[in-house]
Amino acid sequence: MKDLQISTRETDVILQELAKTIELPGDVVEFGCYAGDTSVLLAEALKNNPGKWLYLYDSFEGLPEKTIEDQTAAGWRFKAGELKVSPETVAHKFKKLNLPEPVIVKKWFDQLDDSDLPSQISFALLDGDFYQSIKTSFEKVAPRLVSGGIMIVHDYRNAELPGVAKAVDEFLDAHTKEYDFRLSTGLAILIKK
Ligand SMILES: C[S@@+](CC[C@H](N)C(=O)[O-])C[C@H]1O[C@@H](n2cnc3c(N)ncnc32)[C@H](O)[C@@H]1O
Repeated sequence: MKDLQISTRETDVILQELAKTIELPGDVVEFGCYAGDTSVLLAEALKNNPGKWLYLYDSFEGLPEKTIEDQTAAGWRFKAGELKVSPETVAHKFKKLNLPEPVIVKKWFDQLDDSDLPSQISFALLDGDFYQSIKTSFEKVAPRLVSGGIMIVHDYRNAELPGVAKAVDEFLDAHTKEYDFRLSTGLAILIKK
């Protein structure tokens, strides 16, 4: 079995925040689903809400190249191509658990266009690890996020992935008045006003 990328404490917070958005219009997205371990938890929580679709995005080529924003004092921790799985692995996991089929899109985030994305988003989990991946995720999700909708960014407090916090801080600086922000177990939680 592959290592879990998100701790149980973190998934508890993610599911609590997801529950707060369940009555809102819009769908649920995960940018960087990897093997789908958190995706199935999102799907389980959405099971009784047939109007809400789950969209999963990943290159399924593993991580992209890093940029300078991702460099740590200790050097580079993660390599391009790491965390590569197939979309079939994710689809199989859903089938095995008898969960409704999600929309799985195999593309680099910056290649996603309107037809790949729901028109309204109520909840987003952003877990792309690198500066540019998180920045692009914001660009795709934020214009579609409904009022009261929530974006959660994983790894905000991860010293091995400094590009994540940089992308979040820049986004918040540019959109201060539009979002409430708080941290929980190192997750960045952005709530659209
Ligand atoms: C840490 S893993 C995600 C873990 C997953 N959310 C979970 O809970 O198990 C990061 C994933 O993001 C994907 N990724 C990172 N940057 C990307 C980009 N720019 N475009 C597409 N996929 C990307 C990688 O392929 C990898 O599968």
